[in-house]
Amino acid sequence: MLDNYGTKRIIVTGGSGFLGSHLCERLLENGHEVLCVDNFYTGTRGNIEHLLDNHAFELHRHDVTFPLYVEGDEIYNLACPASPIHYQYDPVQTTKTCVVGAINMLGLAKRLKIKVLQASTSEVYGDPTVHPQTEEYWGNVNPIGTRSCYDEGKRCAETLFFDYNRQLGLRIKVARIFNTYGPRMHPNDGRVVSNFIVQALHDKDITIYGDGSQTRAFCYVDDLIDGLVRLMDSRDDFTGPVNLGNPNEFTMRELAELVIELTGTKSRVSYKELPSDDPKQRQPDNSLAKAELDWEPKVELKEGLVKTIAYFEKLLSA
Ligand SMILES: NC(=O)c1ccc[n+]([C@@H]2O[C@H](COP(=O)([O-])OP(=O)(O)OC[C@H]3O[C@@H](n4cnc5c(N)ncnc54)[C@H](O)[C@@H]3O)[C@@H](O)[C@H]2O)c1
Repeated sequence: MLDNYGTKRIIVTGGSGFLGSHLCERLLENGHEVLCVDNFYTGTRGNIEHLLDNHAFELHRHDVTFPLYVEGDEIYNLACPASPIHYQYDPVQTTKTCVVGAINMLGLAKRLKIKVLQASTSEVYGDPTVHPQTEEYWGNVNPIGTRSCYDEGKRCAETLFFDYNRQLGLRIKVARIFNTYGPRMHPNDGRVVSNFIVQALHDKDITIYGDGSQTRAFCYVDDLIDGLVRLMDSRDDFTGPVNLGNPNEFTMRELAELVIELTGTKSRVSYKELPSDDPKQRQPDNSLAKAELDWEPKVELKEGLVKTIAYFEKLLSA
C-alpha cells in the first residue's frame, strides 16, 4: 500500500486511549495515514476529536477480541486497559484483550505480511528481584493475583509474538513500556501521577499507598512515542523485547512534594495501606534501547509535570 512518497497506512489499536491518541497524532505528523481501531473501553472520543477532520485519519469502532479484516502496512497493538482500576474491573475481558487481541492482530499481520508492534509492559517483570530490570530478567509474577489478568495476559501476548516470529517468520517488535504520564491520562484511573495532580487541583489530601518510600520512574509521553516509532522503524531482525522508560527514580513522597510545589495546592499528604502485589521498585535499564534505537528519554519530570498539570487544569475547569 506504499505510495511513491513513502506514506503508509498504519493501524493503531487502542488509538483513542492515552498513548494511542498521541501515537496517532505523531504518525499523522510524519505524513502517514492512520486507522484508529478502538472499542472505547477506556479511550474517549475527546482524545481524538481534533483528528477527526483530518482526511488521513480514520476511526473504526471495534473490539480486538474479534477478528479484524482491514488493509494496512503496519500495526501498533496498544488496545488494552492499562491502569489497575480499569483492568481489574473486568479481569476476564482484560486477559481476552491481551491474548485473543494479540492472536487477532498477529493473524492480521500474517495475512497482510506486515510488521506488528506489541505494547507490552514493565509489569511482565512483576515485583522484580533484580534492579534495574534488563530485558534478560524473566520476572517475578504472581499467576493468580488480582493483577495477573494484566501481567500474565501481557506475558502470554509476548509468547505469542515470539512464536509467530519463530514459527511463521512474522516481523515483530515488542516494547516493554514503563510508567508513562502526560496529557490525556484518565483523571480517575488511579495511576499515581494523575491521582496526585487531580487531588492537588481539588486541594484534597494527596494519598500515598504504603510509607511513600517505594520508587517509580516516570517517562513523559512524547519520549515514549518517539521510542515506539523508532522501534517500529528499526531493522527487521531487531524484535526486542526492549525496555522503554525513564530510568530516573523518584519516591512517591518526592513525587507528591513536586506536585504540591508545582500546583501551589493547600493539599497535605496522607498515607494508606499498600495494595497487594504492588511492586516496591521499578526502574528500566535502557541500554538496549540506546544501542539499538539511539533512544533516550529527554523530558525531565518537572517539565513533563508542568504540561500535565496544565492539561488537567483545563480538563477539570471545563
Ligand atoms: N501508560 C502506561 O504507563 C503504560 C505502561 C505500560 C504499558 N502500557 C500499554 O500501552 C497500551 C496503551 O496504554 P494507555 O496508557 O494508553 O491505556 P488506555 O486505557 O488509555 O488506552 C487503551 C486503549 O485500548 C482500548 N481498548 C481496550 N480494550 C480494547 C478492546 N478489546 N478492543 C479495542 N480497543 C480496546 C481502550 O478503549 C483505550 O482506548 C496498553 O496496551 C498498555 O498495556 C501503558
